[in-house]
Amino acid sequence: MARMSYELRPSKAVTRRLFVDVLRRLSAVAAPSDYQYVGFGALEFADFELVHRQLGIAKMTSIEGDAAHVERYIWNRPYGGIEVLAGRASTILPSLDWSQLSIVWLDYTSTQTAEVLADIDTVASRLLPGSVLAVTLNAHPQKLGERVAALESAVGADRVPLEASEARLGQWGLADVQWEILNAELRRTLSERADSAVWRQVLNIHYQDAARMQIVAGVVSNPATERLIDQCRFSDLDFVRAGSDALRLKVPLLTLPERSWLNRQLPVAAGAALDPSPGVSEADVAAYLDIYRYLEALP
Ligand SMILES: C[S@@+](CC[C@H](N)C(=O)[O-])C[C@H]1O[C@@H](n2cnc3c(N)ncnc32)[C@H](O)[C@@H]1O
Repeated sequence: MARMSYELRPSKAVTRRLFVDVLRRLSAVAAPSDYQYVGFGALEFADFELVHRQLGIAKMTSIEGDAAHVERYIWNRPYGGIEVLAGRASTILPSLDWSQLSIVWLDYTSTQTAEVLADIDTVASRLLPGSVLAVTLNAHPQKLGERVAALESAVGADRVPLEASEARLGQWGLADVQWEILNAELRRTLSERADSAVWRQVLNIHYQDAARMQIVAGVVSNPATERLIDQCRFSDLDFVRAGSDALRLKVPLLTLPERSWLNRQLPVAAGAALDPSPGVSEADVAAYLDIYRYLEALP
């Protein structure tokens, strides 16, 4: 088949851009450039590139657990202003300055663990209202027969919902249960704050480049910021999800000429259909229509 036109992990790349589209809307709360960004930039800093270029964020901190090779991470920073801190997030997060509005993306490659949930507690208990937390987790099911035990050992048996059976933890079931656990943890932590803070979820996305993955993101709100957060009108974005029903992101595999052919028919008028090139299914065309604005531009 002809060369596909996508970057290495196309679904992940799309979720990054969807996230940035959400963040743009924070301007009703404060200029996005007034926020600090805290993330895990790894070696490529793809998220840092975006938040700096698209939102103008200047104060950026990357936490890197691979402390033995931290010089390499520091050398690969796309901007000298990114501070790279070596160590586990569990050690670094409590030491950061949380006195300004923050956007925090804990972009794990692992499934949910007690350490992940403790990181979420650390951040959710400190974020100023109007701040954003996003969490990416691996959601790939374990082998049948090992699923419940693996989840219980990862997060603690008391956190695992009773309905989490071997069958339910297959397919996207682990993602759903991790969402439930994450949601319960956030609500519990926020309810312990003195400022009546609540969690307002904006993203709940399932996607798959290799392993099944999920991203959940939301804003910490309290009575003083509620109206400003309403003014962000996140729900105007059709990929926003406020509840447990996740958006299942699909990036259809199309060649450069196939994408180019479709692009020449875009934007499409409401109710009008696109004419696909030979062999491209209507389902792929529909999926393409949903996400083409979030793919890298054609050369
Ligand atoms: C998925 S990559 C980050 C990718 C990047 N955010 C992006 O948008 O492409 C995860 C990075 O975080 C680091 N990491 C994962 N878990 C961590 C933890 N608990 N504490 C510190 N670093 C962690 C890994 O070493 C890796 O470099």
